Formats: sequence, structure tokens, C-alpha cells
Amino acid sequence: MPKKVLITEPIVSSVIDKLEQFYEVDVGERDTYNEEETLIEDIPEYDAILPMLSNPITKKVIEAGKNLKIIANHAVGYNNIDLEAARKHNVYVANTPGVLTESCAEFTMGLLIAVARHFVEAQRYLLDGQFKSWEPLGFLGKELKESSLGIVGMGRIGQAVARRAQVFGMDIIYHNRSRVSKDIENELNAEYVDKIEDLATRSDVLTLHCPLTEETHHLIDTDIISLMPDDAILLNTSRGPVVDEAALANALHEEKIGGAGIDVFEYEPEVHPKLKTAPNCLLTPHMASATYKTREAIGMLAAEAIIGILEDKPKSDLPNLIQA
Ligand code: DGY
Repeated sequence: MPKKVLITEPIVSSVIDKLEQFYEVDVGERDTYNEEETLIEDIPEYDAILPMLSNPITKKVIEAGKNLKIIANHAVGYNNIDLEAARKHNVYVANTPGVLTESCAEFTMGLLIAVARHFVEAQRYLLDGQFKSWEPLGFLGKELKESSLGIVGMGRIGQAVARRAQVFGMDIIYHNRSRVSKDIENELNAEYVDKIEDLATRSDVLTLHCPLTEETHHLIDTDIISLMPDDAILLNTSRGPVVDEAALANALHEEKIGGAGIDVFEYEPEVHPKLKTAPNCLLTPHMASATYKTREAIGMLAAEAIIGILEDKPKSDLPNLIQA
């Protein structure tokens, strides 16, 4: 009997083709597996699953996966997977580090410039027919050169953002669980700031690149936002719950900060209604890694982990295994 793999929704076709060389592959219809119940129902017949971030791979799902040997997430983040349950049932878990660094950093720079220079509001103004003549005081934005960029989470993506921001002449400061090496600090001309409170106070732009953990849940709350300069910008391409979304929406409406670029949401796919109407707030549907090149690389990395485990290859050849 051929082994069976479930890809929970359509992904880049070369990845599906690769897995089909080895296994019987089923590809779910978009959004079919966003509920635990559907997963529980279908998982028993599969040896491997390649889920999306939106698929809750809970304890119950893992328990129902009687044949399941590996969960290869189509993402670098894995907060949708119950790691403890996977460990208990000897199911391997893999993610896709490294391959989305550049696309996410590029996207963050896009958000940064768009918010700093009011792209969204300016386009709305133009399309509404309000552009009558060149305005000396219209849409005055924040110049990036000599502005400070506070980076929360100085992993691969944080560093890639710093590298780009440096080219724009920004002053890089950062906060991280642990300080990065002196070499990296020197290369990025980045200053470590021990306390998130101090980082918030000193950042003209604060950008989030940390994972979602108990410690980072609501890391950016009313108190932290109140420390940011009144014209500061907050960018979030990490995970929604790192920011208290209601607090952010209120701060934007009350003009306690100058703008926000938000790609991830606290109750994704729901978006706080006050965020939708907030001034200078650019909202995108969790798409920072959305380039063909990156999404193909994400899929391939997940597929290789599946093949590695199902073909019993040495675990040392599978660097993206998070745990056994
Ligand atoms: C990830 O991989 O964790 C991103 O958020 C989605 O590409």
C-alpha cells in the first residue's frame, strides 16, 4: 500500500508533483481544514500531513492520526500545532526556517514606506477626486533617514530588515531574548536595548519579528504604546496576538501614535473593527511571505521533511525538524 500524504489546501504545484513521485497525495480544497472536526475526521488515513498555519493541529487531531508520522507545517511559525501532543505520540514536526527571510523583510520595508508616506490615505484621497492641485502641506510623512528603527526579535528576519533599513540611513536599535553576537551588531550597526519599554520610547518605527510565545503575547499593549512617540509607526508581520489589537486601534484613533502596518491579526482572519477605520493604518491579509519563490521553497522544505521521515533518512539530513 502506498503511503498517504494530505496537503490541506492547494500549494505551488511543483511541490505537489514532488510528493506525488513517492506517495498517494490528497490536496484539500481551500479552507476545508480550518476546523478541528474536519481534520479529526480525515486524518486517520494519512501517514503525513502538510498543513497551513490556519489549520489547528490540536491534541485531538494528533490523537486521531493513528498512522501519522510527521506534521510538516507550510510555515516557519508553528503556533497552530500542539507540540506536546506530537511529542507524546512520536509524531515529528517540521517547519520552514530560512526560506522566507528575504520576502518577509522586503514586505516589511514596503509596509514601512507605505505607512511613513501615507500611501493608502493618499490613494483614497486621489480616487475620491480630492486631488485638485499640488499641496505644499499635503500628506507630510516621516523621513526614514536618521529615524530610529526599533526591532523586536533579532532573528533572521529582524536582521534582514535591519540590513535594508541601514541602506535607508535608519538608526537600528533592537530588543531580543538574548543579545546577538558583536559581529552581527557591528555589521548592522545595531544597538541592543535591554528593556522593551526603552525600545518603545526610543523608536520612531517599531517593527515586530518575534515568535508568539507566552512571553510575547500582548507584548505591545496600552502601556508600551503609550511610551511610543506620538508620530511613531508600529509594524507587525510576526503574529497577531503579539499586539493587543484593541489597544492599537484606540491609540491610532486617539492619535497617540502616527500609523501602523499590520499583516497579522489577533483573531485571524477577523480584524478588529476599529482597526479597519483607524487613520494611517495599512492592513494586509497575512501575506508577507507571498512571493512565488518563497512559497515554492516553503513547500519544498516541508515536502523534504515528509520524504525524509517516511523514507527513514538520517534525522541529521533534516535540519527543519523541530522535534521528534
Ligand atoms: C510563517 O511562515 O510563519 C508565515 O507567517 C506565513 O508565511
